[in-house]
Amino acid sequence: MRISVLGIGYVGAVSCGCLAASGHDIVGVDVSPDKVAMLARGQSPIVEDEIDRLIAEGVQGGRLRATTDIADAIAATDISFISVGTPSEPGGGVNLRAVDEVAGQIGRELRGKAARHIVVMRSTVPPGAAEERVIPILERESGKRLGDGFGYYSNPEFLREGSSVRDFYAPPYTLIGAAAGDDGAVVREIYQGVGGEVHVVPYRVAEAAKYLANAFHAVKLAFANESGAILSALGVDARAAFRLFCEDRSLNISPAYLTPGFAFGGSCLPKDIRSFLALAERAHVPAPFLGQVLPSNQAIIDRSFEAIARHGRQTVALFGLAFKHGTDDLRESPYVLLAEKLIGKGYDVRIFDRSVQVARLVGSNRAYIEREIPHLERLMVNEPVAALEGAGMAVVGHLGREDRAGVAAAMGDRRLLDLAGVPEFRGLPGYQGFCW
Ligand SMILES: NC(=O)c1ccc[n+]([C@@H]2O[C@H](COP(=O)([O-])OP(=O)(O)OC[C@H]3O[C@@H](n4cnc5c(N)ncnc54)[C@H](O)[C@@H]3O)[C@@H](O)[C@H]2O)c1
Repeated sequence: MRISVLGIGYVGAVSCGCLAASGHDIVGVDVSPDKVAMLARGQSPIVEDEIDRLIAEGVQGGRLRATTDIADAIAATDISFISVGTPSEPGGGVNLRAVDEVAGQIGRELRGKAARHIVVMRSTVPPGAAEERVIPILERESGKRLGDGFGYYSNPEFLREGSSVRDFYAPPYTLIGAAAGDDGAVVREIYQGVGGEVHVVPYRVAEAAKYLANAFHAVKLAFANESGAILSALGVDARAAFRLFCEDRSLNISPAYLTPGFAFGGSCLPKDIRSFLALAERAHVPAPFLGQVLPSNQAIIDRSFEAIARHGRQTVALFGLAFKHGTDDLRESPYVLLAEKLIGKGYDVRIFDRSVQVARLVGSNRAYIEREIPHLERLMVNEPVAALEGAGMAVVGHLGREDRAGVAAAMGDRRLLDLAGVPEFRGLPGYQGFCW
C-alpha cells in the first residue's frame, strides 16, 4: 500500500521503518527539514533499537522516502498516517495545533484529488477529537464528505520508547476507531502480519482507550512508588511485597475492580486505606496519591446525590443497601451513606435489599447502622415493588436478577438513576445511567 506518514518523530519514524519493512511504499513528511534530510539519507531521526537498520533498508530498497512537501506526499499515496505531536498546554489541556494544521493541509490537497484517500490518526487525541474536530476540518477544507471523498480512522499507538519496534509488531491489540457501519478493513490490511486482536470500535471509544491506558499506567506507577516508599519506611522489603502482590492474577493484576460504576465501600477497603495512610503519616512519608482515594470515592456519592436532587422528587426508592449484592454487611456501604444524606436533606426513602433483615443484624454491623440510620426498620420494605409506591424516583444500587423484571414493569414514569448499570433498565423512560 502507498502510505504517507505525517510527522516523523518517535512514533512516525517507527511507522516509517516498520511499514516499509512490511513491504508498503512509504513517504515520510515533516516540517523539520533536518529530520526529513536524515530520513531521506536512510538515517533514523530518533534513537531506538533496530530502527536504524529498518530505515536504511527501506530507503535502499526504494520503499521509503522523505519530503517536507505534503502536497507531493498526498498525491503519491492513498493513505495518510497522522503522527504529529500533541503536547500539553501550559494550563494542562492538550495542544492540537499541529493536528489541526496537518488536517487542514490534507483537506486542501484532497480538494483537487480525484481518488479516495484514507486518513489514519495515530497521534494521541482526546475523546471526541475525530467527530468534533478533525473530520469537520477535513470536510471543510476538502469540500468532500466522510465516506465519499475520504475515509477516517482512529488508530492509537501503544508503543513504548526504548522497545518501539518490538511493540509495533506485538501491540496489546490493534484498535481501529471507525464510523458506524465501517469495518475498518483498509486499516486491518495495513497491519496484516502484526500480532494481537483487532478491535473496531466507535471513534470515541478508541480515543478514550488510549487516554485510559496512559492514565492507568501513571496511576500504577504512582501507586507502586508511593506505597513502596511507605513500606520501605516501615522496614518492609517493598519489592518482595510487590512481587507477591503481582502474583495475584485474580484480584490484583486482572480486570477485577475495573468496571466503572458507583462508589466502593464495605468493612475492609475504606478502613484499611485509612490505616495505611495513618502508617504513612507516622513514618513521615507523604502520600498525596493514596490520600485522594477516599475523597474521590466520596465525590461519587455526592455526585449521585446531586443527580437525585436535580430531579426534585421527594420520595425515593432505593434498591440495594449493603455495599454489594448478597451480603447484609452495611458497614461503610456507600448506599448507606447516600441514604443517610438523602434522609438528612428531608427525602422520604424506601429501601429494598433482599439480604438485609434489620432484626437479624448483629455486632459491629448493627452498631454501625444504628448510628448512621437509627430507624432503618421503618424505611425498609419486603418486596421490591413496594419500594416504588409513592416514589417519584428509583435509585438502583443493586437488585437481584429475580427482581429486575418486576421493578422494570412497575417503573411507570418514575425517574430512574441506575448506579449499577443494569441492562434491563436501559431504554426505560427516565433512565439515567451511572455516568451522568
Ligand atoms: N513517543 C511515544 O512513545 C508515543 C507513544 C504513543 C503515542 N504517542 C503519541 O504520538 C504522537 C506523536 O508523538 P511523538 O513522540 O512521535 O512526537 P514527536 O514530537 O517526536 O514528533 C512529532 C513530529 O511531528 C512534526 N510535525 C509537527 N507539525 C507538523 C506538520 N504540520 N506536518 C508534518 N509534521 C509535523 C514535528 O516536527 C515532529 O517531528 C503524540 O500524540 C503522542 O502523544 C507517542
